[in-house]
Amino acid sequence: MNIILLGPPGAGKGTQAKKIQEHYKFPHISTGDILRENINNNTGLGLKAKSYMARGELVPDELLITIIKDRLSKKDCQNGFMLDGYPRTIPQADALQMILTESGEMVDVVLNIFVDDEELIKRLSGRRMCKCGASYHVIFNPPAQEDVCNLCKGKLYQRDDDKPETIRNRLNVYKKQTQPLINYYSNKKILKTIDGSKDIHQIFEEIKEELDKYDQ
Ligand code: AP5
Repeated sequence: MNIILLGPPGAGKGTQAKKIQEHYKFPHISTGDILRENINNNTGLGLKAKSYMARGELVPDELLITIIKDRLSKKDCQNGFMLDGYPRTIPQADALQMILTESGEMVDVVLNIFVDDEELIKRLSGRRMCKCGASYHVIFNPPAQEDVCNLCKGKLYQRDDDKPETIRNRLNVYKKQTQPLINYYSNKKILKTIDGSKDIHQIFEEIKEELDKYDQ
């Protein structure tokens, strides 16, 4: 089964993706994580992406399309995958369709997680990350010990793009460049809107109800 998680920054895509991965074992492909890993490793891709991400802008389509084409060709994607943060523009969605058509596949469902701006700002400004990939929120999902990861005991930090001025830009960029994908997938009749303002566990229950309708 091939799934896309769509939604504005802070909607809870990464949080739900981790739960879906644990439950259904689909590989979780986060383009944000792939780009951050490249920045941390000082690769050529990381150097190209860094300034766009720091400003809260989208990294150019051609770089993202190359990343996703390469990642989807890996063996672990043969029995399905879950995309988190891709596509974010119509050209990225068209490219994905071409890649999948070449291998006789398609996107089965797009889970569009909806949350209002005020809540998104609260979520992003309170988010804390760990190098191991775990994500927390100072109020909504706090670690057991302040600023310490429950899983690996690493020190938590705030993402550079979770600073207030960058958050606003990311939300504007989402509205201009990514929101049109809602109509794009709605027209293909594969869009399912999820109310992302509920509790993390309640949202996951709703997602499970939807995914269980499909053959895994
Ligand atoms: P990326 O890393 O993908 O960031 P994003 O889409 O902006 O999404 P976030 O990770 O900020 O939010 P999320 O929806 O995953 O929320 P989370 O679960 O963490 O991309 C970063 C940058 O990379 C982009 O700006 C762009 O520059 C570049 N990029 C990436 N992909 C690209 C592409 N395809 N094309 C071009 N450029 C690209 O939750 C947020 C917080 O809320 C957490 O603290 C969490 O604990 C909390 N929370 C989650 N759910 C709930 C809930 N139900 N109730 C209360 N709190 C909750």
